[in-house]
Amino acid sequence: MKHVDSAAHTRGESIYLDDIPLIRGSLFGAVFGSPLAHGIVRRLDVSGAEQSPGVVRVFTFQDVTGQNQIGGIVPDEPLFAEGSVHFCGMPMAFVVAVSETAARHAVGKIIVEIEPLPVITDPRVAQSEGELIVPPRTFRLGDVDGVMAECEHIIEGRTDTNGQEHLYIETQGAYAVPLENQTIRIYSSTQAPTAVQRAVSKVTGLAMHALDIEVTRLGGGFGGKEDQANGWAALCALACLHLKKPVKYAMPRTDDMVMTGKRHPYSADFTIGLDANLKILGYAVTFYQNAGAAADLSPAVLERTLFHCTNSYFIPNVRATAYSCRTNLPPNTAFRGFGGPQGMFVIEAAIAKAAEILGVPAALIQKRNLQKTGDVFPYGQLAVSEAEACWQKAEELYDIEALRRGVEEFNSANKLFKKGLAMMPVCFGISFTKTLMNQARAQVHVYTDGSVSVSTGAVEMGQGVNTKIIQVVCAVFSIDPALVKVQATRTFSVANTSPSAASATADLNGKAVLIACTAIMGRLKEVAATEPGGQEMGWKQLVMAAFLRRVSLSEHAHYATPDIHFDAGKEKGHPFAYHVYGTAIVVATLDCLRGRYTLDAVKVVHDSGVSMNPTIDRGQIEGGIVQGIGWMTMEEVVYDEMGRLRSNTLSTYKVPDIYSVPSEISIDFLHTELDNLAIFRSKAVGEPPLMYGIGAYFALRNAILAFNPSGIIPFNAPLTPEKALMGLYSNKPKHVVG
Ligand code: MOS
Repeated sequence: MKHVDSAAHTRGESIYLDDIPLIRGSLFGAVFGSPLAHGIVRRLDVSGAEQSPGVVRVFTFQDVTGQNQIGGIVPDEPLFAEGSVHFCGMPMAFVVAVSETAARHAVGKIIVEIEPLPVITDPRVAQSEGELIVPPRTFRLGDVDGVMAECEHIIEGRTDTNGQEHLYIETQGAYAVPLENQTIRIYSSTQAPTAVQRAVSKVTGLAMHALDIEVTRLGGGFGGKEDQANGWAALCALACLHLKKPVKYAMPRTDDMVMTGKRHPYSADFTIGLDANLKILGYAVTFYQNAGAAADLSPAVLERTLFHCTNSYFIPNVRATAYSCRTNLPPNTAFRGFGGPQGMFVIEAAIAKAAEILGVPAALIQKRNLQKTGDVFPYGQLAVSEAEACWQKAEELYDIEALRRGVEEFNSANKLFKKGLAMMPVCFGISFTKTLMNQARAQVHVYTDGSVSVSTGAVEMGQGVNTKIIQVVCAVFSIDPALVKVQATRTFSVANTSPSAASATADLNGKAVLIACTAIMGRLKEVAATEPGGQEMGWKQLVMAAFLRRVSLSEHAHYATPDIHFDAGKEKGHPFAYHVYGTAIVVATLDCLRGRYTLDAVKVVHDSGVSMNPTIDRGQIEGGIVQGIGWMTMEEVVYDEMGRLRSNTLSTYKVPDIYSVPSEISIDFLHTELDNLAIFRSKAVGEPPLMYGIGAYFALRNAILAFNPSGIIPFNAPLTPEKALMGLYSNKPKHVVG
């Protein structure tokens, strides 16, 4: 089935936040953000803005009617700066005016005096000064110190991965509309309507039942709107409450880039120990997560880094420690993979370094250590592993030997262009790592004309969840998709929802829909069995017959993932409903004079379970690969030492475009029939494919080494053309080329 939004998207008819018709008298907001990354606020003078033409009112922390606090996991994030500032762009005032232009113009008239304090941007510095968001955590398996004595080879190293701007096409924003009796409807571009509802409730002091958060769809989220839509909605709601007028704030792109957090940069140290047969016996790793100025989702992201620190490999002795480090950057947040990719990069770097030192192909070490069913993860869960199945199928299907020979022949025939090949296996756990979040609800109404209306907690952000929900309804009712409509996600329809995140949205909400529809279908079957002529009735007739007999045609159902648990004290448990596996082969061509490169091919075998919608899943995989390649090779978030974002526009922040997409992306689904907890056994697909993109880093690295075998290439991503060039000519007498 095609994505239900495809026609409306193509015609430009789909409604995003900025397309909602405005109510007469609507006002517009603009945020004044701190110009400094750290300091004491000595003076905040908004009088110039108040007198600016068209301005209705300027709000600061003094206008907060509830608590000046939007921290989700840890209450450490004021909505408005109050006394001190902790990152550049931290909201200090919210100007509300009769037009966007008037509001933005007035922001420029705000005067602030801030006494500067030392700025920390490096997580290692933060850690050494004790600036931690939460206490460090350590996952342990076996005895890593003991086993190192038995290792034939011990390799140490350091890695650094940079952040990543979400660059959803639709920027953050909210539109708050006053209803009667202090009730507010908020249209928000959020992955988490309930998180917005909670945050606005806290800031305004209004009960959650007075806050109707509505989301039709997002123009992309990628994790950036999991927690960070809350602040903008709270600002609009607060102004709406004071002024009793609708207030809208749709962020200008630069505000969005400057004021919101990104993927967490990580620095890490590793030690890997192997025996003479290239079996990895021990792995010790320490992660320094750059959390930014407040917790946001950092503790949860940190946890997933630990969960995925051994990627697809079984390593019997592991010690992984992670520090969440407080710096003076915007609070970093969820981004597709949620800390998993950062953890996987380190183990892949450790294997690559071992391979380079030992003079063997990295693929040999990778393959020899792939996890098998029954192997234990460092967190205690036993694997039901498709790691070897995906790898073997990729080798055979794509004729890996021929690809290798092709690369070698090309490299011996060409002096100034070199190719590199890398394998990238992926293993990603599906479920929110916080067990309580693995629940969802659905409300299904069948109307007397036979049409069906479905509401869930799922937010459509392009990923196709609404299409999959329609498929679930149609499978149970045996009706045409045209009869089913998925409604906007609303906190007044479905309550206490988890964010649309963790790749789990279709599973959780789809299962709730399945339960609701099955209950209605049970009642309809009873009508069919007892009504004269019931067995011959079509859908519409049957629905009407049920209605006439006063049988309920509505259901509100609840689903909670069974059998998952995790003990954070012991760091052991069974946190994931299942894992998604896959293997990618990545081939790159590097221009060794200029450092530029193209990706020839990404060839994937992806464990889909039994894909319920191969078209949508393929789209997710292709998008994930390209986004992962962007993170690994070209997207460079740059903050200066004062904590100011230098890459704050699309001219200074380069994301993949159609020309940087690999010439070939081949995707083969590994159909796995084993029972799993996915909806219709169709495994989650949102996040895992991003990590195939990590292979692009190592393919390029291999191309550099083909040109300059003694090149020094720090494990520092993204591997931009500039860094590639430095690697190509590192450690070489100046006059020698090739
Ligand atoms: Mo997603 S990174 O779990 O919002």
